[in-house]
Amino acid sequence: MATTEEGERVKGIVLAGGAGTRLDPMTRVASKQLQPVYDKPMVYYPLATLMEAGISETLLISTPHDIPRFEDLLGDGTPWGISIEYAVQEHPGGIAQAFLVGESFVGTDPVALILGDNIFYGALGLAEIVEGFTGGALVFGYPVSDPERYGVVELADDGKVLSLEEKPARPKSNLAVPGFYLYDGRVVEITKRLKPSARGELEITDLNRAYMEEGTLRAVPLGRGIAWLDSGTHDSLLEAANFIATIEHRQGLKIACLEEIALDRGLVSLQQMEATLSAMPNSTYRDYVARVLGEHRSEA
Ligand code: DAU
Repeated sequence: MATTEEGERVKGIVLAGGAGTRLDPMTRVASKQLQPVYDKPMVYYPLATLMEAGISETLLISTPHDIPRFEDLLGDGTPWGISIEYAVQEHPGGIAQAFLVGESFVGTDPVALILGDNIFYGALGLAEIVEGFTGGALVFGYPVSDPERYGVVELADDGKVLSLEEKPARPKSNLAVPGFYLYDGRVVEITKRLKPSARGELEITDLNRAYMEEGTLRAVPLGRGIAWLDSGTHDSLLEAANFIATIEHRQGLKIACLEEIALDRGLVSLQQMEATLSAMPNSTYRDYVARVLGEHRSEA
């Protein structure tokens, strides 16, 4: 379980709701985060990111329509040695609303929020970042060629956050804020003080700005060698799938295989994974899990 320097346990939220209209008609029956990204459902990727950060208590938030499907797919997380709870966001009232929907889950613990359509790849060092978290809020800054599509952070030479803007027409930097955020145990209380934006949403950028204004927001620049992929349009979804397929073919290793992460992190025993494997239908995914399990067995 991930704990901070102060010994507080860190929980995780995967926000996987939203209107999903941009991918219509694909998303009429199943939401965006249930769509495939090459060989697994999109939600596997953010869930894997949380697991790699050492977070094993997770709340998944989605629409009333899609929650039962996520429950069918992920269950209570037992096969991966984690716990997954579910909560419904009745209407897409903004990303920061996740903390109001998840108020009883979060309580006053620190929490990481990841957007269900954000895919990270590479050595982010998340477990160290989570363990070294001392309060306030933490976001990343990732260089992109089209910052106007995102939250944008401007940093001073000494790393101080100078400004944060949501989809600015004239961005002050090329650093987009990806959908992974870390907050201290005051996040619910601070979210309650936010006012909805002109489009009627509780904006994540306003929450981050509240921390920035009290001087407790840290922004960590992500350099080369880290991929942060977007999957919000048909083209970016195809690009993400091609990226995953390219790396997986080349290395013969899977990205975001939850069973592999569970074994690597010691979240489940070899016996537990054997039981999980025997319940999996034949597929190339199962073949991979069997191979990984075999490797762990021979190392044991
Ligand atoms: O991907 C990173 C970007 O995500 C950040 O740089 C922006 O600051 C942040 O506002 C957000 O921008 P998007 O334009 O991607 O936000 P969108 O409204 O598309 O929501 C992102 C995901 O969160 C999407 O998969 C749906 C989900 N969502 C969104 C809202 C507003 C919910 O589950 N509930 C919601 O109420």
